Amino acid sequence: MTITKQEFTRRRKQLMAMMEPNSIAILPSAAEKTRSRDTEYNFRQDSDFLYLTGFNEPEAVLVLLPGREHGEYVLFCRERDRDKEIWNGYRAGPEGACDKFGADDAFPIDDIDDILPGLIEGRERVYYAMGKDQDFDHQVMVWINAIRARVRTGAIPPGEFLDLDHLLHDMRLYKSAAEIRLMQRAGDISAAAHARAMKICKPGLYEYQLEAEIHHEFSFNGARFPAYNTIVGGGANGCILHYVENSDALRDGDLVLIDAGCELDGYAADITRTFPINGRFSDEQKALYELTLRAQEAALAVIAPGRHWNEPHEASVRCITEGLLELGLLRGELEQLIADEAYKEFYMHRIGHWLGLDVHDVGDYRVGGEWRVLEPGMVMTVEPGIYVSPDNASVEAKWRGIGIRIEDDVLITKEGYEILTGAVPKSVDEIEALMAGAA
Ligand code: GLY
Ligand code: MN
Ligand code: MN
Repeated sequence: MTITKQEFTRRRKQLMAMMEPNSIAILPSAAEKTRSRDTEYNFRQDSDFLYLTGFNEPEAVLVLLPGREHGEYVLFCRERDRDKEIWNGYRAGPEGACDKFGADDAFPIDDIDDILPGLIEGRERVYYAMGKDQDFDHQVMVWINAIRARVRTGAIPPGEFLDLDHLLHDMRLYKSAAEIRLMQRAGDISAAAHARAMKICKPGLYEYQLEAEIHHEFSFNGARFPAYNTIVGGGANGCILHYVENSDALRDGDLVLIDAGCELDGYAADITRTFPINGRFSDEQKALYELTLRAQEAALAVIAPGRHWNEPHEASVRCITEGLLELGLLRGELEQLIADEAYKEFYMHRIGHWLGLDVHDVGDYRVGGEWRVLEPGMVMTVEPGIYVSPDNASVEAKWRGIGIRIEDDVLITKEGYEILTGAVPKSVDEIEALMAGAA
């Protein structure tokens, strides 16, 4: 299960078909990053570069030249090097770039300054991701200036620079059948990881021990990296939205919030579950948990093609405000509380985000000043939460320090939607049964 060579070709063709006449697109790979002294972080390819090439090495540059007789797809990459490969791992080399990755032409990255200005010359427009990386911005100008320096010999430098992200990110928003299969698998692995953490959880364990269980399940199933830093927050730590210390002991009577998703072949899953450390919800925990779940259901109920991006958020806001009023955490009149955004003290983030190669994936949320209309093939998260700060003096003490989020990944389909992360318990009964060993 992966993305085929044909699909990468199709993506490049689709992008080239949208580019203005007589243009060129230039896209660099990600760079290796130092973690400490002479060790690096695990390499993660730039998502745009990965989307168009499937090529997972640093020090590479993709060039697209629509209509070029000698090939439209050019890749600059590291040369093969027996010594370096013995120390640092395999390289495709320019030959592999053509044979395995379908490049029409490939050159050593060390020769790019000599070759690329010649490829740019005569093209009127250059597409690249402007302003994303200062070094690359500068590099592009060096190549352009190499052409400008030769105008008196008849060289023609391009006169227009266009943002590549705009075209490319819109393409990435619509997932293909193969991408959806991968995201489903990432969702299944991540769901199994959450179920594993639920089963093993008990008072006295440490947050990092649940993190270890989660990561074991990811890696063991071929998804070696989390799509983002795993959050395991026991008790009031669950109220910190991006808590990643994961260092505290898990206490009897508290909830634990786990936000974790794996990355599979570049594609992210993003799941949050919140459950009682001792396996049984208290009355207050259950009341807020079930309210969060109702908010998620209310949001899902308005997800379908033709609905707009903000409708699920609005539905969750209404549901949570109503519920907090009923439970006495908010006081006042429903419509006024919504208008005043009183819920933001407890629900301070939005309902979700696009999901794909990046966990907070690319794609516009507004188009022409209007909320984007949902369409089949888009994938989004639906993740309402309620967080009662431990020092919120405006609510009864029994509610304080409870933090809950429930997050699933949702594919918009022709008929409505499909949940990609459904294989992990969510209702109070299901969670309690799993934790009691009955499921
Ligand atoms: N895990 C990051 C998020 O839920 O947005
Ligand atoms: Mn999310
Ligand atoms: Mn999340």
